[in-house]
Amino acid sequence: MQFNLKTIVQQHMNRRKFLFINIKIRDGKEIDKDIYSDYKKKMFYEKEMAHMGVLILNREEVKKVIDMREVIEKVRGVYQLKAKGQSVIWPLVNYEFEEEHAAMDIRSGYVKGEQLHGLKMLNNFPDNTKKGLPPFNGVMMVYDSNTGIPIGIMDASYITCMRTGAAGALGVDALARKDARHLMLLGAGKQAPFQIAATLILRPQIDKVYIVDPVNYPQAQDLAAKIKAQLKEEFKVDADGVEFVAEESIEKAVADSDAVITVTRATKPMIMNEWVKPGTHFSCLGSDMEGKEEIDGKIFQGAKIYADDIAQCIRVGEMEIPLKEGTIKKEDITGEIGDLLCGNIVGRENDSEITIFDATGLYILDLVAAKVAITKAKEAKIGIEAEM
Ligand SMILES: NC(=O)c1ccc[n+]([C@@H]2O[C@H](COP(=O)([O-])OP(=O)(O)OC[C@H]3O[C@@H](n4cnc5c(N)ncnc54)[C@H](O)[C@@H]3O)[C@@H](O)[C@H]2O)c1
Repeated sequence: MQFNLKTIVQQHMNRRKFLFINIKIRDGKEIDKDIYSDYKKKMFYEKEMAHMGVLILNREEVKKVIDMREVIEKVRGVYQLKAKGQSVIWPLVNYEFEEEHAAMDIRSGYVKGEQLHGLKMLNNFPDNTKKGLPPFNGVMMVYDSNTGIPIGIMDASYITCMRTGAAGALGVDALARKDARHLMLLGAGKQAPFQIAATLILRPQIDKVYIVDPVNYPQAQDLAAKIKAQLKEEFKVDADGVEFVAEESIEKAVADSDAVITVTRATKPMIMNEWVKPGTHFSCLGSDMEGKEEIDGKIFQGAKIYADDIAQCIRVGEMEIPLKEGTIKKEDITGEIGDLLCGNIVGRENDSEITIFDATGLYILDLVAAKVAITKAKEAKIGIEAEM
């Protein structure tokens, strides 16, 4: 068959820079796969790259434009892209500042499906609170993977909380019993409200939430008292029908919960195997560095175990210590959440099995959430556009 190829040159100009995209179109109406892909890229540039400035967003601006429901769907989508080989996670770097009792990590990655790559550096300096400073600070950078040109630089803290909330909740939604009504939060710190908001969005039938913080019970009480208003104001979640209980006893709360989310900085298990009732689901998010552990390793025995990224979870996740101690073996890991969400692997099969989602946090989640913030901020003309 003969084809006459035409070339359309799309020229984009931003002060000093020119960008050419060649699009070949066949004489007939059909466009083959490669050409279609070029066409999609052209559309991308037309929409996104009308100029080449970097959008800079501070914490309040990110907060103003980003929406939990949208982040949940983006996180679901990127877990699925990971399962399809459409993303790359680059090695995690982390460091503990011993004298400062603080930690930092650098996470990075590439989402092929969205043509985005980048990194974030996050610092957790808990003693900052005594100095009247925020403890949790970081910056993320987002690049366009067609050109390597940065498209966004923003505060990383709020996006991290949002995508972490979405991750924990997607674990609950995918794995907890369909009739689950009682949720327990272990850890009443910064992440807790985001976990509660995202879980109530995905599982609106939850009618009781235990908030447990053995290290700081007043904080659990405070959160239980204020969370309804925060849910309404910040996340547009109506939780009027939900009972929030600050519970001092971990044992009591676990025994009455269908789903448990752990978000503490613990390095010793706080939830014991003998307290857990059959059918409980765990989304474990606190363990994101070597040596952290929140639940008894024995809970893993016989459970269905899912990871956000198997290699990273083995290295720094909740499963790190049970694997090192030989409580479980690598072969006991059922698979990754992305495969579960794609329907490639089996999930919960009955109402009595224990399920665990070990979520160590992947930068690809931040990337897609950041993209939501960039798009929304551009629409609303929020933030500062700068030339690099
Ligand atoms: N997996 C992820 O994607 C992800 C993302 C963000 C944060 N994290 C991790 O989640 C954890 C919580 O983060 P945060 O921002 O809410 O921190 P935070 O310091 O604001 O809150 C932690 C809470 O855990 C409580 N806690 C209960 N038992 C504890 C114990 N034994 N040791 C220490 N603290 C205990 C503290 O009192 C505090 O209220 C951290 O370990 C953080 O690194 C994970």
